[in-house]
Amino acid sequence: MIIVYNFGSQYAHLIARRIREMGVHAIIVPHHTRARTIKKLKPDALIFSGGPASTWSTSALLPDPDLFKLNIPMLGICYGQQVLAEMLGGEVVPGRAAEYGKETVFIDDFSGLFKGLKGKEHVWFSHGDAVEVVPKGFKVTARTRICPVAAIENHEKKRFGVQFHPEVEHTEQGMTIIRNFLRMTRPKKDWKMNDVSRQLIKRVRKQVKKQGVIMAISGGVDSLVTAAIMKQAVPKHLYLILIDNGLMRSGEVELIKEYYQNAGFPHFEVVDASPLFLRALRDVTDPEQKRRKIGHTFMHVFDTKAKELKKYKRIRFLAQGTIYPDRIAGTHTPLAAIKHNRHHIIRSEKMKLKIIEPLAEFYKDEVRVLGRQLKLPKEKIERHPFPGPGLAIRIVGEVTKDRLEMLRSADDIFVHELKKAKRYQKIWQAFAVLIPVRTVGVMDDYRTLDFIISLRAVNSKDGITADWVRLPPGLMETVSNRIINEVKGVNRVVYDVSQKPPSTIEYE
Ligand code: XMP
Repeated sequence: MIIVYNFGSQYAHLIARRIREMGVHAIIVPHHTRARTIKKLKPDALIFSGGPASTWSTSALLPDPDLFKLNIPMLGICYGQQVLAEMLGGEVVPGRAAEYGKETVFIDDFSGLFKGLKGKEHVWFSHGDAVEVVPKGFKVTARTRICPVAAIENHEKKRFGVQFHPEVEHTEQGMTIIRNFLRMTRPKKDWKMNDVSRQLIKRVRKQVKKQGVIMAISGGVDSLVTAAIMKQAVPKHLYLILIDNGLMRSGEVELIKEYYQNAGFPHFEVVDASPLFLRALRDVTDPEQKRRKIGHTFMHVFDTKAKELKKYKRIRFLAQGTIYPDRIAGTHTPLAAIKHNRHHIIRSEKMKLKIIEPLAEFYKDEVRVLGRQLKLPKEKIERHPFPGPGLAIRIVGEVTKDRLEMLRSADDIFVHELKKAKRYQKIWQAFAVLIPVRTVGVMDDYRTLDFIISLRAVNSKDGITADWVRLPPGLMETVSNRIINEVKGVNRVVYDVSQKPPSTIEYE
């Protein structure tokens, strides 16, 4: 296993992910993790990530010096290289060489990290400080126009450093460099998603023993995969709750119910709280206010149910389908926490429940792979992401029962036609949005003043950037005609051709 020390880099997770892609297990630990903890984990190598700090400043983040006594191979990336240099007797100079973005690196040694590469490579930098004096035992193996120490290597001790970022896509040979590092550290290539689900199940079983676990499921892929892992680990002690907030898509609650009841989850319950949510949303038009109201109502319903269950069951854990991107979004502000449904963590502390998040290290596509390994139904795994606040943020302005019904019908038609045309699975996210603005239309020789439905279909890797999907005109025509003819209250359908950024995927 490889351990990535996180010094606050936005790419730490990417390093771990790249290594997993090569079939080797990798985990991320905070920069202050002690050497004795690492020793127990017996890793094959350590990687120090980049980070925003400076090794020379008073706020420098430096790892436990005892790590260097463990004789474990190391790779320092960007700030990580500076950490290696500074702690092993070299010298880092502030502002020595500022390089941001793509740069050409000149390679002088091909025996280690750069085996198989050319003399000149395009790599991606993001640094101001640089190593000036290399520690004893190291040689400089690469440089750039302005940075004389772009990479250092000590083959005897298997310690390596690169000032650039091999983990980002813009470093063209980044994967080769990481692979070369792995080749020299020889970890076992035993990381397979198959094993991962087995390991996750084992870990949960060990942690939970015979105590109870409560979990709120949403019907989405993250909570489904989490629930499946929990079920295999502690089948008799898992208590699942689906809170029907009245903001789900057409027929969704029934479908989820049918699935969980037939898939052998012994304790599964639907709590119909839709009137509560609708009441909380009355007269609310501000998007963030909507999210807050939905978040608070959710917490209230969940807590009430959990307390009730706790009276007669030994519930000690709260399982959540949190995945890696939720963790980044969920740590910034309380609002972001609510946005990504991690809000009940806050309450669970009061209820003294311990959190279990088996998918916290994974990306959506990895979760889907896990889902396949666990033999979960294909159509459930390939579902488009659906936001926690549901249809409430797809109705611009106030949410009412009538508006929800209109949106549900329009969305159902759009999704149905996409599936029929075998397009749904090729698209990252597609849905309808209700714009409750009245525009003129004619029907049966009468003037109508009805609402607008906007259709949104986007492709994206991670939801951070997105492009609209070029749908065939014939398909758009069918969807538009069906919506206008079948959904009462709608007389106009538009197709959204905005990219993210500057637009967002959702409308609120
Ligand atoms: P935006 O609209 O920010 O959406 O471009 C990016 C991705 O995030 C989802 N999204 C949410 N998910 N709670 C969620 O759980 C939310 O409040 C929320 N807002 C947006 C959105 O569906 C898209 O996949």
